[in-house]
Amino acid sequence: MADILTLLKKDHEEVAGLLDRAMKLEGDDKQFAELAAKIEAALTVHATLEEKLFYPQLRDRSESGEDKTDVYEAYVEHDVLKHLIALLKSEGRRDEAFKAELQVLGENVKHHVKEEESTVFTLARELLSEDEREEIGAQFEAGKASAKAA
Ligand SMILES: [Fe+2]
Repeated sequence: MADILTLLKKDHEEVAGLLDRAMKLEGDDKQFAELAAKIEAALTVHATLEEKLFYPQLRDRSESGEDKTDVYEAYVEHDVLKHLIALLKSEGRRDEAFKAELQVLGENVKHHVKEEESTVFTLARELLSEDEREEIGAQFEAGKASAKAA
């Protein structure tokens, strides 16, 4: 069984890789649209499952206000990412403005991943036992599998 933190890290690397590819892509619009759809799907499933299985545990168990704020910050960052994804999707074009949106999305993902892997992961190691992290990991994998099937 895999620790939820290991699984999240793997997801982060995958999304970062897709975003890098999208930024560098010189191919046709079809390839680009496919990649954008992949990024959207990966980020949406990831964020939804984190918000359902992972963040609430940390939020509810945090004893200090500062820790709770760190967890809420992660939620807010997800909201920003969702907004940026909606923006990307809203117009069927691939021009300079689109590239700018992609760039900002990439920067925001990087920022979120960095904070999550430092602050949030540290909190998770403090507040959740190894068994609990594996249990959440199993739920996360099951959630991903059913999202893929849908
Ligand atoms: Fe996240």
